[in-house]
Amino acid sequence: MSTVYLDGAFLPRDKAVVSVMDRGFLFGDGVYEVIPVYSRKPFRLDEHLRRLHDSLDGIRLTVPHAIAQWPATIGRIIELSDSDDQSVLIQVTRGPMDVRNHAFPKTTTPTVFIMSEPLVTPAEEQRAEGIAAVSTADYRWLRCDLKVTSLLANCLLRQMAIESGCQETVLFRDGHLSEGAASNIFAVKNGVLLAPPKSHLMLAGITYDVVLELAASHGLPHQVRDILEEETREADELWMTSSTKEVLPIVTLDGHPVGHHENAGKPGPVFWRMYGWYQDFKRTVMRG
Ligand code: PDD
Repeated sequence: MSTVYLDGAFLPRDKAVVSVMDRGFLFGDGVYEVIPVYSRKPFRLDEHLRRLHDSLDGIRLTVPHAIAQWPATIGRIIELSDSDDQSVLIQVTRGPMDVRNHAFPKTTTPTVFIMSEPLVTPAEEQRAEGIAAVSTADYRWLRCDLKVTSLLANCLLRQMAIESGCQETVLFRDGHLSEGAASNIFAVKNGVLLAPPKSHLMLAGITYDVVLELAASHGLPHQVRDILEEETREADELWMTSSTKEVLPIVTLDGHPVGHHENAGKPGPVFWRMYGWYQDFKRTVMRG
């Protein structure tokens, strides 16, 4: 049984219990982070912790943990886990309340939870074949920049993909690409990598930043700008990115092959370059 951290204690996962009056349970009132760990080294930890604190600020929740205190606790959870490659979840809620009331309690004791699961990145065959996606209107709220635990819309949207025999749902809002149900989406057109700009309409992905940094450092032409729905459908390549999926090519969208000519419906050449850079970068980080 894996060991988790809950409110100052390290304990077996089946012994970790949260109050039914926790606002995370009753209202989805909390934030979270998912941090990939390779060979027991957390990837982009500082960036994930900065985003966690941005999300906490965004929901006006003060945690008595300074950013500097997280790495030791996370490090202990990583040590206590069996796998070398892990996915670490940090979740902070506004804690328990005495009576059910939407308004914040006068005094809050946040619930802080950390657990690790083995990291399951996509199998090589899946990466080589690419994945199928569907698309729909982005009906989530207008603070998609906050990584909040109220994930019902994201769950329904991801389930829509699964029930259509696909792996991800690509979201469009007001005629523009926003992101996926649980990923960021990139397009490639005529050799140029296109990424939607960070805004309140999408999560500022840590993997998204890595991909743009790698594009810049390897001289891949790229533009961060609004991407029209038609441009997305006409793209030469589409990718999804996230901490657990890394970079994955989307090869069909709503049943239509992505891309043109001999590359239609297959992972494209720009994807393979980026994937190579990403793996090299990961190796460098793991060594360092
Ligand atoms: N989700 N957009 C959404 C809505 C997400 O849920 C995620 C990741 C991303 C990608 O962010 P990053 O590259 O920092 O993982 C974008 C995580 C993995 C999850 O909810 O499990």
